Amino acid sequence: MVELVPSILSADFAHLADEIAAAERGGGTVIHVDVMDGHFVPNLTVGPPVVKSLRKVTRLPLDCHLMIDNPNEFIADFADAGANWVSVHYEACPHLHRTLELIAHHGMKPGVVLNPATRVNFIVDILPMVHHVLIMSVNPGFGGQEFIPFSLDKIRRLAELRQEMGLAFRIEVDGGVAHDTVAQVVQAGAELLVAGNAVFGAGQPERDASALLAAARKAQTTKRQPGKRTTSK
Ligand code: DX5
Ligand code: ZN
Repeated sequence: MVELVPSILSADFAHLADEIAAAERGGGTVIHVDVMDGHFVPNLTVGPPVVKSLRKVTRLPLDCHLMIDNPNEFIADFADAGANWVSVHYEACPHLHRTLELIAHHGMKPGVVLNPATRVNFIVDILPMVHHVLIMSVNPGFGGQEFIPFSLDKIRRLAELRQEMGLAFRIEVDGGVAHDTVAQVVQAGAELLVAGNAVFGAGQPERDASALLAAARKAQTTKRQPGKRTTSK
């Protein structure tokens, strides 16, 4: 089932509670929190104190996407703050297996994230450990960027691997998911659709979340049969 995962990166940070409530009314079922450190990515955002505040204003799972160096040092803080899902970048974790174990040990759902230039094959061995795999369809750091088309091949490859390996991890996509791209990402096999600009950018999160989710569901009903490839532009 597809789920809409609004990313607060493009929300009004002075009114996060209202913004999240509106996105939830529009059909968002998981809230995506982009954590950036100014080192791993060229931008700064929020950390555990903001997650702790968000925990008080929504019951939806908080999906924390850590775009930071040395994530191990902060896993306990995110758990204490009330994070539910925590994903870390393959590119930031020399000991990825250990980091994923640490996240699970703290009672959170571990996820792994791949930058656009990182191949899906590199994470095959740890797939049994993860709750979700996040395919970046832009280079991380900023909202409102253009979707990178070859991300669709990575989503398809992951969906194939999941089937071959008999696993149940969820496939999430992040970056440039909007009206013009959502059908392709759903048809490629993504189920957790992160969207920042497309939900919050126009200042109408309820309306825009609802429209995007409707487009995603429509695309799902016309999803390709396994084995039949669709060409993507
Ligand atoms: C980018 C972040 C995304 C961002 C996506 O580094 O990881 O979650 O909010 O923004 P849009 O949906 O605007 O591309
Ligand atoms: Zn993100």
